[in-house]
Amino acid sequence: MANMKEIARIAGVSLGTVSNVLNGSARVRDPLRRRVEEAVQSIGYQPSALARGLRRDKTNMIGMVIPDVTNPFFPAVIRGAEDVAFSNGYRLVLCNTDNDHVKELAHLNELRTYLPAGLIVIPSNFSDLTKQAESYQRNGAAVVCIDRLPKRWQGDSVTVANEHGAAAVTRHLIRLGHQRIAVIAGPLHLTNSEQRLRGFRRAMSEAGLPVPPEYVQETSFDVPGGRAKAMLLLRLLPRPTAIFAANDMIAMGVIEATRSLGLQCPGDLSIVGFDDLEFASLLNPSLASVFQPGYQLGATAARLLLDRVRGDTSPARHIVLETELRIRESVAPPVDASQPPQRRKAATASPPGTKKRTSTRRRS
Ligand code: RIB
Repeated sequence: MANMKEIARIAGVSLGTVSNVLNGSARVRDPLRRRVEEAVQSIGYQPSALARGLRRDKTNMIGMVIPDVTNPFFPAVIRGAEDVAFSNGYRLVLCNTDNDHVKELAHLNELRTYLPAGLIVIPSNFSDLTKQAESYQRNGAAVVCIDRLPKRWQGDSVTVANEHGAAAVTRHLIRLGHQRIAVIAGPLHLTNSEQRLRGFRRAMSEAGLPVPPEYVQETSFDVPGGRAKAMLLLRLLPRPTAIFAANDMIAMGVIEATRSLGLQCPGDLSIVGFDDLEFASLLNPSLASVFQPGYQLGATAARLLLDRVRGDTSPARHIVLETELRIRESVAPPVDASQPPQRRKAATASPPGTKKRTSTRRRS
């Protein structure tokens, strides 16, 4: 307030005029506006966003809650949301939940007290977002959920075609001649993991290929999870000739396990991931993956959120973005492990066309 009085004194206008210029709350004649703006500049005055937010019951802040700030998939999503928010005069505040619904709840409760214009959330495992969002919406804040949806979510959402992408990459492996294909799914209570697994199963069943229960593993979306589950799968007899990993971090774990067992990728095992992180094309062999548009995911969510902030009251929207297959060196036709090395080499060039019985027995 002291600063506003000072501005009024320097500009030679009333306190009301200063307030109208700073808040854009009424039309002020151009010469007066300019005098106020010059006075603001001369003392380097910066209005308090918090004070303005309190007056309007809403700030220009958008909260973004994500499950794992160390996972390389999420920065692109954040960047997309931030670009759109920033260019529209909004500021993004980031909260990391470590995939922990208790931590998520603490963030959601605290963020609310800052009167955000809205929230973009990638829910944690076992998220209670559906309940929390209601109280945000009662206070006039918009909430958009992205990437994966919590139980009973009816609000706005932006996701990708997980099932379609997973089916496409599985079909590619099948076309190469793979019949013993295993999957390492992400946590199956997450909608995106569940959809990816469904896509895998759909492609396998379309091709009439069996999926033995041991060939379906579930883990967290990270390297250690992928490594541990791959160690298990690669000790089965017969062992799978290909593994679909539900994200690139899991795929990295599979690559590590493959190497540590002295196996070759793709000679002994084809590996595909999901996400298509930047490093996927840099690995050796480069990793085949299903690209999901992380940047677009965040940017689309921010645009949708801003529509709501600006008064769009149309029914909830569910936007689904396309995925894209990126085939690289980590996949090749299967080699029959029962053949001697010379024959195995030849078999890499021409995939076996006949179906074999798939049984999965642990190697002793
Ligand atoms: O890599 C992180 C994974 O979790 C991604 O596949 C993304 O979809 C997220 O939910």
